[in-house]
Amino acid sequence: MSQNNTQKFPRKLVVANWKMHGNLKQNEALLTDFIQNLSTLKYTQVVVCAPYPYLAQLQSMLQHTNIAWGAQNVAKNEFGAFTGEVSAEMLRDFGCSYVIIGHSERSTAYCESDENIAQKFMVAKNHGLTPILCVGETLIEREAGVMEMVVSKQLDTIISTYGAEVFTDAIISYEPIWAIGTGLAATPIQAKSMHQFIRNKISTLNSDAANRLKILYGGSVNRQNAVQLFVVPNIDGGLIGKCSLNAQEFEGICHVAENSVE
Ligand code: PGA
Repeated sequence: MSQNNTQKFPRKLVVANWKMHGNLKQNEALLTDFIQNLSTLKYTQVVVCAPYPYLAQLQSMLQHTNIAWGAQNVAKNEFGAFTGEVSAEMLRDFGCSYVIIGHSERSTAYCESDENIAQKFMVAKNHGLTPILCVGETLIEREAGVMEMVVSKQLDTIISTYGAEVFTDAIISYEPIWAIGTGLAATPIQAKSMHQFIRNKISTLNSDAANRLKILYGGSVNRQNAVQLFVVPNIDGGLIGKCSLNAQEFEGICHVAENSVE
């Protein structure tokens, strides 16, 4: 790789969050398309996060490609009598290198506490998985102007328990809850200010960790709005829900990320 290319790192990151969608046949069609059309990406790491039963399929189709894969949740315990849970070690067995932690669709519906989320974050790290920690405020909180306080508090449990250095090479995804699945993405200005807030907060505690942390934006990202969002300082890529289920749309977003690398 030329010196010029080396300067283009760190890469952008685009993560597909398939949520509870898909089946063997549909997944195969999507992945085949991704493999074909994303193989030329140089500065963008693509990650697919699927439901647990399909991790074996991801492993068999994506190994030896430039696309990584991961899960959408992990148990906070290492092993034991925890019916229905899946451990970090098990995710590693299926070649996962990423795991989404604390998505609002889990923290709200399954009452996940900040403490649980912090434990999952650490378990992931301890097993060599890159945690993708989701943070974000509700519409009421944004309208009340307390969004930074809310996000700050979501980060504080991890920071006070494990220290800010755990964000080194980790990922935070800013996902305003009002933007998820609504078609109403945050504006580049709104995202810019929150991403800067997050980076500054970590930076005042540990500047090396802040430099090595990636901050994604998630919430109604599509091919069109990605063009403006991905050039915003401190937006290192996106976490994509709905549009990751459509090959053309998702690949379009990945190519926007690639072209946004200066
Ligand atoms: P969306 O989901 O792209 O469908 O809004 C984003 C997410 O939940 O991460």
